[in-house]
Amino acid sequence: MISPPSHFRVILVEANAVDARLLDAMVEASRSGFKVEWSVATLAEALKIVESNEADVILLDLALPDSAGIDTFKTVRAHSGRLPIIVLSSSDDEELALFTMHEGAQDYLVKGQIDSRLLLRAMRYAVERHRVEEALALERNLLRNLVDNLPDYIYAKDADGHYLIDNAAHMRLLRLGKQEDIIGKTVFDFFPPEIAAQYHADDQAIISSGNALINREEPSLNAAGERRWLSTTKVPLKDHQERPTGLVCIGRDITEQRLAQEQLKEANAELSKSQQDLLRALGDLKSAHEELRSVQLQLIEAEKMKSIGRLAAGVAHEVKNPLAIITMGVEYLLNQELSESSAGVLDDILAAVKRADNVVRGLLDFSAPKNLEVRTEDLNAVINQSLNLVRGELGPGFKVIKELDPNIPPLNLDNAKVGQVFVNVFTNAVHAMGSTGVLTVRTYAKQLTGVGENIGDSRSESFRVGDTVVVAEVDDTGSGIPNDKLNKVYDPFFTTKPTGKGTGLGLTVTKTIIDLHAGTIDIGNRPEGGARVKIMFKA
Ligand SMILES: Nc1ncnc2c1ncn2[C@@H]1O[C@H](COP(=O)(O)OP(=O)(O)OP(=O)(O)O)[C@@H](O)[C@H]1O
Ligand SMILES: [Mg+2]
Repeated sequence: MISPPSHFRVILVEANAVDARLLDAMVEASRSGFKVEWSVATLAEALKIVESNEADVILLDLALPDSAGIDTFKTVRAHSGRLPIIVLSSSDDEELALFTMHEGAQDYLVKGQIDSRLLLRAMRYAVERHRVEEALALERNLLRNLVDNLPDYIYAKDADGHYLIDNAAHMRLLRLGKQEDIIGKTVFDFFPPEIAAQYHADDQAIISSGNALINREEPSLNAAGERRWLSTTKVPLKDHQERPTGLVCIGRDITEQRLAQEQLKEANAELSKSQQDLLRALGDLKSAHEELRSVQLQLIEAEKMKSIGRLAAGVAHEVKNPLAIITMGVEYLLNQELSESSAGVLDDILAAVKRADNVVRGLLDFSAPKNLEVRTEDLNAVINQSLNLVRGELGPGFKVIKELDPNIPPLNLDNAKVGQVFVNVFTNAVHAMGSTGVLTVRTYAKQLTGVGENIGDSRSESFRVGDTVVVAEVDDTGSGIPNDKLNKVYDPFFTTKPTGKGTGLGLTVTKTIIDLHAGTIDIGNRPEGGARVKIMFKA
């Protein structure tokens, strides 16, 4: 027990002057720091002193000239705030004294049984209990203030979901005025049934699992029925034996934050969309640029070819006449009397001149004026004619398979030039196969569907989805073409053949003729080996 300061001031309210003196003397005699500062005989006097608020304890006899019994106590109590009251009762009044205890008296003493020790102890207890109660009240007020001044919603519930305490912010949210409006009630008293059921289930899960819920974002309603977003933390409460007793919750309104977040998200999505648009535009620009480049290359290529053509034509004309003179001269000499060796030499010269004449003819074909003599023709007939022309080249080791569809539509083409195309292609196939192999020639008609048809390729811009085309495929079982050479085969003078065997003009001329017919030619390797040449004409 804490020792009292210099002295505690006592109000003695006692109508009986003898008793009053006796009690005063007892207080005095105890030398305990208590002192009867005021000794009065009526309620009216007592109230005046009580209201001055300077006393530490009051000794109160209930039987006064201006008041009696429990009324005396109640009146003093009402005026004295929390000032401790010790009731002095007569011996026949014990029941009343007990009743005053129930109403808040600190103690009661039966007059006639009081000694100074008893009196002192009662006063000390009263003062000390009062001090502790004051301290507790202060602490409770402090906590209450703290909890009520926080902007967050704070409340606690028991294990069955009844509210135990609730702070001002949360009461404002629910538009409640006093603690009594919520204490002892449950969520079912404030929220629509389905929301309340969800809250209750969440609470029960936390209480039974003992696991806290930290910062969960959840939708809620305020008293006006507006949707709000809350960030909620709920912590289970336990007693000293770790048994769950309820939970405490701290919630925060994050509606504005959520709105801001959503706006940010939308802004971001818009940003990334415009970024994508930008990237797409960039991609379009890139492909447009690439297309432009390839057109430019084609133009350069075409220009180059024109110059080569002019050059070739010039050279061919210059060489053609001397070759004719040499041929005539050699033929004249061969008709003369000659030794066998001289005749051999002349034969060799003749063969060499023939080869040179072939080159010249190739050059002239390549540079010939680009006009066609077009007639309606059967492509199968043109192919058969070309096959006959190369039959001499096909030794006994070769097999020719013809898969020519007799129902293909007739085509408008230059018979001689397209015939030359197939002679070139067949000759290449035979050269690639050496002395044995299978040459397969196939024709068919079909409608373009657009899938995998190479439509849009600059070489096939005359083709459209839905067009009927006639296709000729020439397959061989030869060496095939190395991938890095595939795009060189149409170049003038590109050849892999030994000098004298090929000029490298065959496919150049072929391509020129196909282009003049607005067709396409594709050369590739077959997975099973050998090359496939695919030529396509619009029907
Ligand atoms: N069916 C094929 N198989 C393998 N390689 C081929 C085939 N067709 C063409 N080539 C390759 O393409 C090259 C060019 O062919 P192109 O017909 O233009 O010239 P060439 O046959 O060499 O000479 P020529 O002017 O006598 O035809 C050939 O040298 C060859 O390397
Ligand atoms: Mg060739």
